[in-house]
Amino acid sequence: MHWFAATLPGLEGLACAELGDLGLPGSPEPGGVAFRALPADLVAVAGRLRCCAHLWRRAGVGRLRTVTDAAQLVDGLPWHDVPAPVEAVRLAWSGRGAAPDRMRWMQAELLRQLGARSAVDARVGAATGARGELVVLARADGDRVELSIDAGGGLLARRGWRQEPGAAPLREDVAAALLRLVGWHGNGALWDPMTGSGTLAIEAACGAKATAQGPPVCAGDIDPDCVARAQRNAERAGVAHAIRWVTGDVAHQPIPTALPAFVVCNPPWGDRLGGVAAARRTFQRLGAVLARDCPGWRAGFALPHRSAADTLPLAEDALFVRVVAGGRPLWLVAGTVEAHRTGARRPHRRGAAAAGARDRD
Ligand SMILES: C[S@@+](CC[C@H](N)C(=O)[O-])C[C@H]1O[C@@H](n2cnc3c(N)ncnc32)[C@H](O)[C@@H]1O
Repeated sequence: MHWFAATLPGLEGLACAELGDLGLPGSPEPGGVAFRALPADLVAVAGRLRCCAHLWRRAGVGRLRTVTDAAQLVDGLPWHDVPAPVEAVRLAWSGRGAAPDRMRWMQAELLRQLGARSAVDARVGAATGARGELVVLARADGDRVELSIDAGGGLLARRGWRQEPGAAPLREDVAAALLRLVGWHGNGALWDPMTGSGTLAIEAACGAKATAQGPPVCAGDIDPDCVARAQRNAERAGVAHAIRWVTGDVAHQPIPTALPAFVVCNPPWGDRLGGVAAARRTFQRLGAVLARDCPGWRAGFALPHRSAADTLPLAEDALFVRVVAGGRPLWLVAGTVEAHRTGARRPHRRGAAAAGARDRD
């Protein structure tokens, strides 16, 4: 069977590597990874597609020029595999060629096909359905339409534990991608000094639970309310006990002493938390702490723009991945901390290195 693991734009390569590690080699395409697998292979990796947003079963492809084409496309879908009852069907449409009449034909045919079994209502809209809703995704390119059926039970990136998101939460799939980019898979101690609602630390502890005994994960924040919130989120995820929690400034938090050690951080960007000047000072403080206490560690950051990494003490061969989340770009950056590399790495661009500067990279 053919599947498509949809990702945020920019995460295709990391998701492809994740699938490969799970024994499901695939090929990256814009917006996700195409791969072939038996349904049993997917059951075996359930819950471990952490960099992916959606899992689709590619179920049919054809031309859509007439009502008859729509009927053929819908009749050709593998309805025998769809567990009944379907309370409602949602038609999500993406790509070029979303003419209203085509969408209406498809809606009508889906209603006809499923109406015999249950009362259904077809809607055109987002790719995330409500409980009991079957989501059918039509990806159109001109009059060629590919139909996929939601096989992951909705948005995989929404794990369910983050019921208290805080002011500036990182998406869970983005957090998983940063952990992958930095090379952490339970292979060392991990420190998240600006944990907010706890996303990076909780994502790490959940991933480590699946793969190993559980190395030390430390999470801290200057704001005690954030630490309390993150702890409650971690309890919902079942990993609160696996994380060491601390309240305090990044410069005063106890850090892991065992090596190898990793630090991952989503510092305030200055737009939603504290303002640009405060964010710039926080970046400089963070950079100084890392250069002083963490040389040789692997470090990963979620940053508002590429040049924000200039203030961080990373070796020249740092990796940069541009991701678009919620229509807005952000940068995942990973590299090795160098003791001597404090301050701006590219002096000619010092002006753009301010944490709140607009990204034009
Ligand atoms: C962008 S938020 C982190 C969001 C987090 N990744 C999440 O998903 O919820 C940045 C966090 O850094 C914390 N922070 C700011 N300055 C700090 C400092 N000097 N030391 C430690 N934490 C700090 C803030 O309290 C805030 O919770």
